[in-house]
Amino acid sequence: MKICLTIAQARAACRATRGSGKRLGLVPTMGALHEGHLSLVRAAKAQCDAVAVSLFVNPTQFSPTEDLSKYPRHFDRDRQLLEKEGVDILFAPSVEEIYPSAPTLHDATWVSVDGLSERLDGRSRPGHFRGVTTIVAKLFHIVEPDAAFFGQKDAAQLAIIRRMVRDLNFPIEIVACPIVREPDGLAMSSRNAYLNADERSRALVLHRALVQVQDKFQDGERSAATLIATAKEVFASQPNLVLDYCEIVDPDTLRPVEQISRKTLAAVAAYVGTTRLIDNLELNP
Ligand code: PAF
Repeated sequence: MKICLTIAQARAACRATRGSGKRLGLVPTMGALHEGHLSLVRAAKAQCDAVAVSLFVNPTQFSPTEDLSKYPRHFDRDRQLLEKEGVDILFAPSVEEIYPSAPTLHDATWVSVDGLSERLDGRSRPGHFRGVTTIVAKLFHIVEPDAAFFGQKDAAQLAIIRRMVRDLNFPIEIVACPIVREPDGLAMSSRNAYLNADERSRALVLHRALVQVQDKFQDGERSAATLIATAKEVFASQPNLVLDYCEIVDPDTLRPVEQISRKTLAAVAAYVGTTRLIDNLELNP
């Protein structure tokens, strides 16, 4: 596995790979890798001839009150995991390499997808998606992948990146990969590492609420308001938890739907202690 710390090294390695006729897949990550990330790497390996993984804790997608400084960083462990998976290129730049004008970031160029970036997580995390789309656009320009792989757990992020790719004409296929769960249903997330045992068991309510919604939907319920009320009842049974949102939305526009007549997404976010967790399930009539 070739490790690139600079943009010039990454660009040269990726261009050489593509120049030899190989289809290159990119898996963007912030490290602290778990089975969810590794499933993206495996999907990329299955669909591409070579795989690049980026590992960069992107400061611009964290607000000043969020967990940037305590975000888990395990470079050596991550490197070993990626090596084992047969990744070809690991791009692990410094903050200064990616954002030369850090930390002020005044006089900077941003990529933002209006509208969508203010829905779901964007409502409680203003500026978050602008940070995501800016870094992902930069990675796309540096790596120039043929395909890029994202998890469906971050459903809003996926919709926003798809829109950015469409609107800015990136010649890149966006591949969505299924949520990977712990055996008890908890969606895998690097932030699960923050949870103590009690919080870990309380966190299961996110998945439980979604499963109840899915059961009711499978019994024929098509009213979003009724399904949301069902989920909220489940959340109410777990008082030590603050619900951020519980919505049923169109997966492309992230706008709420009233009656479910085509594929939609039931999406939830909640604070368990100080840890914010998200999860979602597809509802497809
Ligand atoms: O999903 C993530 O881990 C991040 O938002 C991403 C896409 C790597 C951008 O920093």
